[in-house]
Amino acid sequence: MLNKKLVIVSNREPYSHRKGRVEKAAGGVVTALDPIMQKNHGIWVAWGSGEEDRKFADEAGRVKVPPENPSYTLKRVWLTEKQIDDYYHGYSNRFLWPLCHMVLDRVYLKRSYWTGYKKVNQLFADAIVDEVRRKKAIVWLHDYHLAICASYIKERNPELPTTIFWHIPWPPYDVFRICPQRKDLLEGMLANDIVGFQLESFCENFMNCASAELGAKIDIKKRVVYYKGHATGVRAFPISVDFRWFESSASSKKEEGIIKRLMKSHRIQPGVLIGLGVDRLDYTKGLTKRLETIDLFFSKYPRFKEKFTFVQVAVPTRKVEPYLSYRKGVENKIRNINHKYGSDMWNPIVYIDTRMDQEKLSALYRAADIAIISSIYDGMNLVAKEYIASQVDEKGVLLLSEFAGAAEEIPGVTLINPYDIEGCADAIKNALERPLVYKIEAIREARAYVKRNDIFKWVDEILEEIKNIG
Ligand code: UDP
Ligand code: G6P
Repeated sequence: MLNKKLVIVSNREPYSHRKGRVEKAAGGVVTALDPIMQKNHGIWVAWGSGEEDRKFADEAGRVKVPPENPSYTLKRVWLTEKQIDDYYHGYSNRFLWPLCHMVLDRVYLKRSYWTGYKKVNQLFADAIVDEVRRKKAIVWLHDYHLAICASYIKERNPELPTTIFWHIPWPPYDVFRICPQRKDLLEGMLANDIVGFQLESFCENFMNCASAELGAKIDIKKRVVYYKGHATGVRAFPISVDFRWFESSASSKKEEGIIKRLMKSHRIQPGVLIGLGVDRLDYTKGLTKRLETIDLFFSKYPRFKEKFTFVQVAVPTRKVEPYLSYRKGVENKIRNINHKYGSDMWNPIVYIDTRMDQEKLSALYRAADIAIISSIYDGMNLVAKEYIASQVDEKGVLLLSEFAGAAEEIPGVTLINPYDIEGCADAIKNALERPLVYKIEAIREARAYVKRNDIFKWVDEILEEIKNIG
């Protein structure tokens, strides 16, 4: 149990107000942290991005959540349109996101982005320090939107312990040095007492950057960086999902109805084998490569026509370039494939471009004979773990890109290289034809692993690590 106030800080809020309703954010982090925050009466600081957020906050931007048991404070940080453009769309999503995912031809930077990013990190830091005041507290920052927040926090309150968990990859120095603000970013990260990454390899990349760029002293074995008299621990904590929730949701009675309705509305005939992709419509997810694979699969193995349908859930995200043109490219490709191979009775690809709630997703995960994750680079990929958790019939095969963090962790999955289109098309065929006994053996192994290593364990391990700092 923490004997300090827990302050969680993230760009996205756990609860937002829109259309007269409070919406709880979907996803493991909020699910796992919400009960802890309720017990701890903590503070969650986040950008107030819901349309009606201002209506439901006091003058200082505070609102008590969750609505059914108001027990902790959500402190909303208000941003101007210009700040949103520069900090969120600009520096975070047009610059840091492609840089860290090493998609270098998509890296785009304007000087105003950095100005906005610094300002907003400072606004977050001020909100945190003002809320904490003299209380004993520990601050847990999340993700690439807040890389330099700790510097501003420590300027005002050097005694306040802080940690950051970086949800996306940290690139090697050869890539990171593209960043003109690399020194400030590293110093911002090192202002934390502990920095957490998904994988050991990201920890190593980070430590090498600190050494090469700042001349910081690193202890690779102990995973510590020493810089300007301060020590920062560097740890890997692979994030996970609420295994039991997905397992029980996929097993529920409602599941059958959900699938029947879905199959009917998309004209999928009973008995057709189902392939599944679930992604934000993001270029790092390798959607165009996946579609090329499906195109090749039907051309090389035409016997699967009308016997296999690929369902792609692709949720539009981040309304800026290059997302907008990427979406057009994906949709064109889907139209071409459906035109090339489809018939009056059957579409090779069913395209769903709206967000699904996780109850529906768990039903789809259960029904899918194969799931394909073709990320060209990914910090972890939670869809992989959600699919595994929902595979209660133990008949599914997960084809998982070797460039997703999850691939370094989970046993029993079939690794694919999304750049090798022919290899991936063959992997689909092999997975569909794999004898059931082998499928069961593999998915059982994967399920046992994710069950042991769920989101609650992830939170416990981080809290255990940070509770003694400061
Ligand atoms: N997700 C969802 N509805 C959708 C599509 C995705 O709730 O229609 C959720 C999905 O269940 C998962 C998350 O979005 O928890 C995606 O996480 P992941 O790590 O796979 O990728 P990210 O989007 O964080 O890069
Ligand atoms: C990734 C990032 C998260 C982010 C999410 C959705 O998972 O690591 O920090 O919240 O994508 O993206 P969005 O830009 O809509 O918040």
